[in-house]
Amino acid sequence: MQQRGQWSGRLGFILAAAGSAIGLGNLWKFPYVTHQNEGGAFVLIYIGAVLLVGLPIMTAEILVGRRTRRDPVGAFKQLGEGRLGGKAWAGLGFLGVSAGFIILSYYSVVAGWTVHYIVLSLQGKLTALASDPGALQTHFVDGFLADGKQQVGYHVFFMAATVSAVYFGVKEGIERVAKILMPLLFAILIFLVIYSATTPGFAPAMKFLFRPNFSELEPSAILEAVGQAFFSLSLGMGAMLTYGSYMRRESSVPRSAVEICFLDSMMGILACVIMFSIIFTFDLEVSQSATILFTTLPTVLVQLPAGGLVLGLFFVLVGFAALTSTVSLLEVVSSYAIDELRWSRQRATLTMGVAIGIFGVLSALSLGANSALSQLNLFGKGSTEGVFSSLDYLAANWLLPVGGLMIALFVGWILNPQEVKTELEDGHKPMQASFGFLHFALRFAAPIAVGAILFSVIFLGAEYQ
Ligand code: PFF
Repeated sequence: MQQRGQWSGRLGFILAAAGSAIGLGNLWKFPYVTHQNEGGAFVLIYIGAVLLVGLPIMTAEILVGRRTRRDPVGAFKQLGEGRLGGKAWAGLGFLGVSAGFIILSYYSVVAGWTVHYIVLSLQGKLTALASDPGALQTHFVDGFLADGKQQVGYHVFFMAATVSAVYFGVKEGIERVAKILMPLLFAILIFLVIYSATTPGFAPAMKFLFRPNFSELEPSAILEAVGQAFFSLSLGMGAMLTYGSYMRRESSVPRSAVEICFLDSMMGILACVIMFSIIFTFDLEVSQSATILFTTLPTVLVQLPAGGLVLGLFFVLVGFAALTSTVSLLEVVSSYAIDELRWSRQRATLTMGVAIGIFGVLSALSLGANSALSQLNLFGKGSTEGVFSSLDYLAANWLLPVGGLMIALFVGWILNPQEVKTELEDGHKPMQASFGFLHFALRFAAPIAVGAILFSVIFLGAEYQ
């Protein structure tokens, strides 16, 4: 077998893993669900979900990865051997690899939209378009979404960028990209937060976000918070497991998990500060549509001082965040081919990248209202029309929660508690109460919370992401 890659140190791992977690889930989805759920109380519940469900599962995934040094399929096969369930646990790894394949195929389409906006901005066309809300709407929906050639083109471009990072390996590819992009991303974000603090909407935004009003909260918000935590933290499909498998033994698993959860949550909250400041400054109606980031927000940003520049920077931010996430999705699928099928990294990334790219064309072509693929309704739900939405529904509501549930059960019940404790303390100080909390969360809190999501999806037809 070829020499397995490794991060250069803990910083490399943290930046890459935070890069995986921070993405469209934070910048687009989190502000949108927070708004739908009336702000402050939802933010608190979300933080609770991260602590009680996200953090334990994150720790469990990284632990399994560092322990086995294998891809998700190999990792569960190896650890399951001789225990209840035996090698059948490899199926959990397959679920993760398939989820990676599916999510990447449509995630890259949306990521491609940011490239289109960056191109428009560089051409100097974005400011003019955004100054006329009607024109931007028409451009985006009729001119862009419905234009199959452009959709496929930008998707392929984004896949190519993703492949070129993963192709060069863990340290020279993934870590290098994360080390360049993540600091830039934080810098742009801080700039935009400071900028939003100068707008009149900042004070009401802070009030909305940090003054909880529990009377407005629906019970479903709790489930939505858990589902959102999964997607946002890249949990339930072995992304953190795969990244953990390149970690050095002397790096602390619990500490890394805490830092990644912290960075990811901060990013979501700061994205909310930026968006709500703008929303309150202009007293906007927040539409329910998936396209607010690309239609409404630009028309507003452009009205602010230096709006054209801010707008361009904003899409660079979203594009960078998306790239470090797509890289982790491809790495999950590639690591399977490298570790299990014994392919070279180059062959694995190119083959899988091309396969996912081709599969993603179905999503890319399903966005125009007249496309036959936009009518295809794979799961019989009104809100999931089209290939794109159906795949998102499948991944976010089924694959990730089921994967997360099984990982929690595996580490909580199948592995020996003493073994888990010893592994966690390797590279970390001895744990007492914190281990008790973690183990309890893996055995009970996380499975119950995730079980409740699945129950509500199955029996109540709810849709969470
Ligand atoms: N966490 C990413 C986001 O918030 O956009 C999405 C994601 C990346 C999910 C990687 C799952 C994954 F394995």
